[in-house]
Amino acid sequence: CLHRRSKKILALLWECIGCCRILHELLWLFRPLLRLGVILVGDKKDSATYVRNKKTACDSVGINSFEAHLPEDSSEEEVLKFISGFNDDPTVHGILVQLPLPSHMKEQNILNAVRIEKDVDGFHPLNIGHLAMRGRDPLFVPCTPKGCIELLHRYGVSIKGKKAVVIGWSNIVGMPAALLLQREDATIKPGVVIIDVGINPVEDAKSSRGYRLVRDVCYEEACKIASAVTPIPGGVGPMTIAMHLLNTLSPARRMHD
Ligand code: GUN
Repeated sequence: CLHRRSKKILALLWECIGCCRILHELLWLFRPLLRLGVILVGDKKDSATYVRNKKTACDSVGINSFEAHLPEDSSEEEVLKFISGFNDDPTVHGILVQLPLPSHMKEQNILNAVRIEKDVDGFHPLNIGHLAMRGRDPLFVPCTPKGCIELLHRYGVSIKGKKAVVIGWSNIVGMPAALLLQREDATIKPGVVIIDVGINPVEDAKSSRGYRLVRDVCYEEACKIASAVTPIPGGVGPMTIAMHLLNTLSPARRMHD
């Protein structure tokens, strides 16, 4: 009976593998239906080159990249109208607004309007926010820094524990590159200034509560390499409280202004 049952399971497994293969082939067939909507505003030569190169790459893998090319003096509303159309169009799977935008537009308004599920640039604040948070996975990661990290991986350069310096903090490269390096456990160098925010309970029979709170870094060890280490207590804790007070003050100020 057991033998017959395992035979049945095997047959079922084969059937599933067959189905997966068919599904894979079907996905391959539907490849040309993948569509990327690109919005280019103005006639900046470098932007036009970027867009052209991306289109060539899309063509080479069967992704249908199409472009809305708007004049330099277009209004923010006109760009937003295109984004809204792409957001609502189920045949458009990705949206890319080429940056920089003309100076009369507010980049933030444009990038915030892209649906996060179609934000292939990973520039929407929710995607950037998830990139910055531990244990969260953004739907998309900005492509230039993602490419830099991939380069390091492909060439076997390990990042964990390395001292990482990112020069420049643009929203397109520097800032997300720093976040990505952090996610890969890049670390600190001698002379570093350590701001210790850790509070970890450890058992302590001498304490009336049965535990005491300790910092993250070993103070004695950290002092040997760091140029400054925040104290605990009396370091970051009072600062957090002060910032809470300030944050509470600002909506009140806004209401009364
Ligand atoms: N301009 C320069 N690099 C990029 C990029 O990766 N995405 C977009 N949208 N614009 C850019």
